[in-house]
Amino acid sequence: MFLQAKRLDVVEPSPTLAITARANALKAEGKDVVGFGAGEPDFDTPEHIKNAAIVAMQKGQTKYTPVSGTVSLRDAIIEKFKRDNHLTYDRKNIIVGVGGKQVIYNFFMATLNPGDEVIIPAPYWVSYADIVRLAEGTPILVQTSPKNNFQITPEDLKSHITPKTKVFIFNSPSNPTGAAYTKKDIEAICNVLINQKLIIMSDDIYEKIIYDGLEFFNPAMLSPELKEKTFIVNGVSKAYSMTGWRIGYGAGNPEIIKNMDTMQGQSTSNATSIAQAAAEEALKGNQECITQMVKAFDDRRKKIVNSLRNIPGFECNMPQGAFYVFPYINEIYNWDKFKALTIGKESLPKSKIFCDYLLEKYEVAAVPGIAFGDDNALRLSYALSQSAIDKGVERIAKMVADLK
Ligand SMILES: Cc1ncc(COP(=O)(O)O)c(C=O)c1O
Repeated sequence: MFLQAKRLDVVEPSPTLAITARANALKAEGKDVVGFGAGEPDFDTPEHIKNAAIVAMQKGQTKYTPVSGTVSLRDAIIEKFKRDNHLTYDRKNIIVGVGGKQVIYNFFMATLNPGDEVIIPAPYWVSYADIVRLAEGTPILVQTSPKNNFQITPEDLKSHITPKTKVFIFNSPSNPTGAAYTKKDIEAICNVLINQKLIIMSDDIYEKIIYDGLEFFNPAMLSPELKEKTFIVNGVSKAYSMTGWRIGYGAGNPEIIKNMDTMQGQSTSNATSIAQAAAEEALKGNQECITQMVKAFDDRRKKIVNSLRNIPGFECNMPQGAFYVFPYINEIYNWDKFKALTIGKESLPKSKIFCDYLLEKYEVAAVPGIAFGDDNALRLSYALSQSAIDKGVERIAKMVADLK
């Protein structure tokens, strides 16, 4: 107790990282583990982006930059918003952080007061709820269902808004479900929000990974009034295979940006100068690398959904974006037989027992749905080769067959 601060009582260690660590430990023992846990593209960062970092180093861009990012990167972000989202921002509306995660962290630290409520549609990205708790806010989880394509309904949203609601988190395409909202869907949600005194935090990190010709929209793109209410988070991690470079950015009200700048100025200061140069090239340079990556993900998406749907009892929505599938598993196994095989684990959530067993006995790493607020499902990332996907799904099918 002496060594641990009280504020950590509200935070869970990341379950995604825990699964990945266990899978890596088994691999180190020589086991042939198929890892569906990763939250990052399996492609390398494109050459022209790496080269921009090398040139930046050679030119001496190796010093502190302004806390909220270099002027040229912020200008590239402003251009990106104009080009891709038809949104106009000034430099005072933009902040660059150490990944989208830091931007989200600083956003909540800079806006929430103790007891402020944050509405989070579940299933949700693992970090949202913990970051809100760390910032002394209260996550209000609103369950969605595969029948509604994991989208929050306007009625559900409305019934959870209270005088304490400060933020509504919107994430499309979504981690973990891959569900993406159409413009019409977003309009229906925003009709509920438009007259409320709250901030919409739109997490657009999977903007570029979208399928079937679906056009990307976020709430800010719908009207100037909604733009005023919206804080956008985005970054280069997913679109350009740059997870390790740690560059994310936020756009919104200048007062929020100024406060986030203050927060960041007392923690990391600026994001790495060299990575900022690389991110600038990613946003301004040839965008063909995205097209190629999305094409590869799209092929895998269709194949993995089809093969999962062939496993008796698996129910799997076709995702419209990101690189995850979120199959429902409640119908699949003989629960009594499974319990007999996993004695001693009764107190754990069902999806966790399932994933532990899958990893230890069948050497497949998947993330339990409970980590995202839905114990009926698993999350599988298809950011791995087609042959690994085939092998992994075959093993899952074998486990289900063995449990009959
Ligand atoms: C929904 C969502 N938002 C934000 C992030 C943060 O990404 P990064 O910090 O790499 O920019 C992630 C990463 O997994 C994510 O899935």
